Amino acid sequence: MKLNQIAIVLPINNKFRRKLLHHLKRSLSFLFLSQILCIPAFAQSPFTPADRDRADTLLKQMTTDEKIGQLNQLFYLTLPVGGAKPRDPVIYQDLVRQGKIGSFLFLTDAKEINRLQKIAMTEQRLHIPILFGFDVIHGFDTEFPVPLATAASWDPALAEEAQRLASEEAIHAGIRWSFAPMVDIARDPRWGRISEGAGEDPYLGAAMARAQVRGFQGTPQNPRPFLATMKHFAGYGAAEGGRDYDASYISEEQLQNVYLPPFRAGVQAGAATVMSAYMDLNNVPASANPHLLQDILRKQFDFKGFVVSDAFAVASLVTQGFAKDREDAALRSFSATLNMDMGSETYVENLKALLDKGQFASAQLDDLVRPILEAKYHLGLFENPYADATDQTHAEMLAKHRRAARTAAARSAVLLRNESGLLPLSKATKRIAVIGPLADAKADMLGPWSLTAKPEDTVTIFEGLRAKFTNSQVEYAPGVQISKKHPSSFDGFLTPDLPKPWSPEESDAQMKRALQLAENSDVVILALGELTGMVFEYGSRSSLDMPGREQELLERIYATGKPVVLLLVTTRPLDLSWASEHVPAILDCYYGGTEAGNAVADLLSGDVVPGGKLPITWPRSVGQVPIYYAHTASHKPYDSEKFTSRYWDLATSPLYPFGYGLSYSTFTISDLRLSEKAISLDGSITATVTVTNTGSKTADEVVQLYLHQRYGSASRPVRELKGFRRITLQPGEKQQVAFTIGREERNYWSAAKNDWVLEPSEFDVWVGNNSTATLHDAFSVSK
Ligand code: NOJ
Repeated sequence: MKLNQIAIVLPINNKFRRKLLHHLKRSLSFLFLSQILCIPAFAQSPFTPADRDRADTLLKQMTTDEKIGQLNQLFYLTLPVGGAKPRDPVIYQDLVRQGKIGSFLFLTDAKEINRLQKIAMTEQRLHIPILFGFDVIHGFDTEFPVPLATAASWDPALAEEAQRLASEEAIHAGIRWSFAPMVDIARDPRWGRISEGAGEDPYLGAAMARAQVRGFQGTPQNPRPFLATMKHFAGYGAAEGGRDYDASYISEEQLQNVYLPPFRAGVQAGAATVMSAYMDLNNVPASANPHLLQDILRKQFDFKGFVVSDAFAVASLVTQGFAKDREDAALRSFSATLNMDMGSETYVENLKALLDKGQFASAQLDDLVRPILEAKYHLGLFENPYADATDQTHAEMLAKHRRAARTAAARSAVLLRNESGLLPLSKATKRIAVIGPLADAKADMLGPWSLTAKPEDTVTIFEGLRAKFTNSQVEYAPGVQISKKHPSSFDGFLTPDLPKPWSPEESDAQMKRALQLAENSDVVILALGELTGMVFEYGSRSSLDMPGREQELLERIYATGKPVVLLLVTTRPLDLSWASEHVPAILDCYYGGTEAGNAVADLLSGDVVPGGKLPITWPRSVGQVPIYYAHTASHKPYDSEKFTSRYWDLATSPLYPFGYGLSYSTFTISDLRLSEKAISLDGSITATVTVTNTGSKTADEVVQLYLHQRYGSASRPVRELKGFRRITLQPGEKQQVAFTIGREERNYWSAAKNDWVLEPSEFDVWVGNNSTATLHDAFSVSK
């Protein structure tokens, strides 16, 4: 009997089936069980049998010290954080020679990489190459839009291409491993690192995770010599109060249904490595959490790659009040199967003694070392260990990548408001005032984690507009300055320098200058938002207000009566309650990267039509946080006739819903057809709609399908994204778009069953262009 036949014959609520499942659970592997329940648990092994054979042969020749050395990753720089040990290159090279380092991070100079690699390949006993890793988060020499922006493109192919190009540049410098994609679901924009992920939704997050893994690593049929890292495993995005590093408390239901799907998808796509998070998950630090690392990652996901800790996370187990001392910390992470210690050197200091004391078996050590060696074989590092630093190829590469970065930035922007067709601007506009602290800010255009790109290569909004509107007089004034009340140790080190503060007189003079410039213009382009360091690691905020005097600047410029286009340069959904009622045009540009300014100019001029959609729900104010569309209903649903609001001072609805974004064209989505209205548990249906471009411009629409299970063993979210497609249509053109709703779209982890379920119920389907879509139909699923 085939597995799927079992599912048809034995529906999930059937007592007998439950007994059988219980028996199966005990006697068969999770993989078998997951096939019955349709849990996507089959991981693609990132390595080949040949990699494994070679790793096993090498392991047999290695001493214990050499094995432990492979688990040791060092920072090649001095970080302004506790635990980082400054070293000079001589010490590094000695450690490499002795085989005490498996990997370096933060070294990006090809010559130094090659020098150290040569020592490893020629002077170290077993000639095991070093694996050089780096945060290639959204670019290397060329920055692409930050990941939240790429998610706003709703175009996984774009995310894949961006990471492929970024890794080409990194490989050129000798880097073979990126600490990306960051796939943390984040529903609290006070948390600055929301910029690094794909937003609030597990389905969109999973699509972006898969795409980025493919971009970095290629496919099994067509592998690339580069490794991806799924991070931060798991639950980092749920930090209490949005305070970076703070504890997360996540139920198993939320973990399985919301926070893990992007990780699961990335592992399935063959991700070679996973980074364990810093924070306590339900009071057990993620970097020594057996439930996360063993039960979920190794067993449920069948992950065959290796886990690296976040920076100094192993030693931090002591600070977090979990481990007794560094030795205990090493043992707890090691026992939880964390392979590589990033930066803290607790493994290299303690594992030998722990082994000698019989705290673990040498086979356990081999198990943790093996996938690191497999990765090095898989990358071809033993044969081809050096950076290829040919300058000419590099120059050609950069020119090509800039074009892709410009397209990516334009496809990522989201048009939030466009009253009376203010946008696109006419190219004959005579005087354009470009105002705001982010309108001519090169380094801040690049966004967080742009550590290797050169700000001087970056095109600002002002520069982009000047280059596009060649017949116009385009002038610039900053107007205001923004700053953080509490700077972090990363400011000016991992993020751009904070500006030197203006005196009160200077501030007033700058405000006046900007207002004068606005008065003398035909249109004002106002770029407001946040500095890169405000949305970086350590970049949490308690408010969503526009920082500093930005709101005042906005209101005073509006008061001049000139048409205002507000450009948002940040990843945080800032409080737009005033702007959304007054400012005629608002375009969310995020941090667009190297070509940010040109992309903005393409959009404002109409050479490119905006088509991005919000990957997060936009709150009206910080008091609504956390707010996300896939909430459950309660006994007083938001849309019931009475008791519609849960606050007495504010609506419960967001300012802009998840999936929302305008275009310069208009679309209708109609004629929703379900291939069947009643199916069995094992069945699937096709939902088809017709999309028509009813406007006058060739443009993109993102067609989105949402699903809702009306009843079951647990309450389900009022709707959940289960399909999307970004399509381009000419004026008047129609296209049919079809989505499949099968087992995978209907299964979920039920807290009542403590397991994955696929249930008989009735299901609502909506298709539209945001999460409030009203085009509806329904179908039923029976046993
Ligand atoms: C800490 C960050 O949390 C992580 O995302 C990053 O990859 C490492 N540092 C290395 O830079």
